[in-house]
Amino acid sequence: MARHIAIEGYKWWRSGVIYQIYPRSFADSSGDGIGDLRGITQRLDVLVDLGVDALWLSPFYTSPQKDAGYDVADYCDVDPLFGTLADFDELMKTAHLKNLRVMIDLVPNHTSDQHRWFQDALNSKPGSKEREYYHFKNGLGDNGELPPNNWLSMFGGPAWTRCEDGQWFLHLFDSSQPDLNWENPLVRSEFEAILRFWLDRGVDGFRVDQPHAMAKAAGLPDHPYVDEAGAGFIEGREAPPMWFQDSVHEIFRDWRKILESYPGQRAMCGEAYVLPLSLMALWVRPDEFHQTFNFRFLDAGWNEAAITSAIDESFEAFDSVGAPSTWVLNNHDVMRHVSRFGGNYGRATASDGIGINDPQPDNETGLAIAKGATLFMLGLPGASYLYQGEELGLPDHTTLEDEYRQDPTFLRTNGKRLGRDGSRVPLPWEKGNQSNGFSETGASWLPQPSSYKALSRDQQLNVADSTLEFYKAALRLRNELKLGEGSFDWVNQGELLSYKNGETLIIHNFSDIPKRLPAGRLLLASAELFEGLLPAHASCYLKV
Ligand code: NOJ
Repeated sequence: MARHIAIEGYKWWRSGVIYQIYPRSFADSSGDGIGDLRGITQRLDVLVDLGVDALWLSPFYTSPQKDAGYDVADYCDVDPLFGTLADFDELMKTAHLKNLRVMIDLVPNHTSDQHRWFQDALNSKPGSKEREYYHFKNGLGDNGELPPNNWLSMFGGPAWTRCEDGQWFLHLFDSSQPDLNWENPLVRSEFEAILRFWLDRGVDGFRVDQPHAMAKAAGLPDHPYVDEAGAGFIEGREAPPMWFQDSVHEIFRDWRKILESYPGQRAMCGEAYVLPLSLMALWVRPDEFHQTFNFRFLDAGWNEAAITSAIDESFEAFDSVGAPSTWVLNNHDVMRHVSRFGGNYGRATASDGIGINDPQPDNETGLAIAKGATLFMLGLPGASYLYQGEELGLPDHTTLEDEYRQDPTFLRTNGKRLGRDGSRVPLPWEKGNQSNGFSETGASWLPQPSSYKALSRDQQLNVADSTLEFYKAALRLRNELKLGEGSFDWVNQGELLSYKNGETLIIHNFSDIPKRLPAGRLLLASAELFEGLLPAHASCYLKV
């Protein structure tokens, strides 16, 4: 049973609440149906009012948008869809004036095929220094007509595409996202310059995309158990040659030194999908990432046994190297927790999405569980990540028509896997036009489901029992009680799961029936108590 002792010395990234902005779906100031940087700047007060400490912006860089911006064609410029560098500077300035820190997304595993480096490589000969930026290889078979190895793309299909002169290039994601060759010192120095470019502009840190894929085993050998694991890995088995190779760590040590050479507390969060967490601990040693996402917690589903062991494993692993644990229930790659918990969808379904022909989630029960889960999560010491729109209790768009889908997963699997568009739908701000205030024109790159109208922010603001006011109250309390910087001790394991953080007792009712609470003063509950009983799926904070 894990315990956690509060760590001395405040550092924002150890305890902050970091709010993920998915720029294309946050707020559209230009009316073209795609969110933009000005839209974010104009709405920053809302995030101050919500009570978060920092923002993480998903990519806004120059990009053909084949994977919603995770295909970068220029790391040091803003895509015209989202605005200009001047708009970015304005956003930074305004956020800092409002005491909001800003982390940006860095995508170092792959570029867009439209990036100058890749275009130069295509226009150069096999064996040239330009090709050394990427993984170009000759194929197998008599005429090189077979891919160089058996690796698969995370988005479906092979991880290799052949170019005109017969060589193949590697892409662990879409064929428009060629993987960079991190053995090449030039790639390393290019990225060091990119880090400095944004640090000089004042960013407080980076969320680093797919860091566990950056280093590949020498010679790119076959995936030893591809038939069982597909493009991925199986926890407890040997690391396949494209995932969490040891040589990756020195890259992050170099980056950490760069961050620490800047004033203020700059931080890096790795989107490292590394399990078990005891292995992940290696990624957050004091001279590497400041923190990594806790996918063990996100993937656990919402059941007592899995959540208990995810929390135990997290504190054991991260405390062993003095790093904060992070906690997260939502992001742009999985179904929103309202729908996920409303249908008990496992991880695979959650990132593949569901559609009109699938059994639909019960979003009412889902919302009750989601609010309980969020309150329980926000009591845990460490940094917590929220994803835009969860404060409105938004469900996924689970009946999105296929004609709107843009996720490359959908396109690469001929619709077999629907993908992640359902969690990326533009936010409803003010009930009214077709996109409920997302843009003045009503345009939006994905249509909202009809349920979003009543969930619009203006419909919830100052409404006592709304999800929005509940999130605000929870963040206010977390801040007042310094729960993010606090301690952790289990009090009760079982259906009424509870832990103590300082003088606060945090309880979740995993049973199907209302439960009597222990003594203490009620500070906040995710659902109204009835005759002193905590309803099923609800959480509460008690002062003890
Ligand atoms: C993880 C990002 O969160 C996801 O959206 C993206 O598709 C992949 N990395 C590839 O960059």
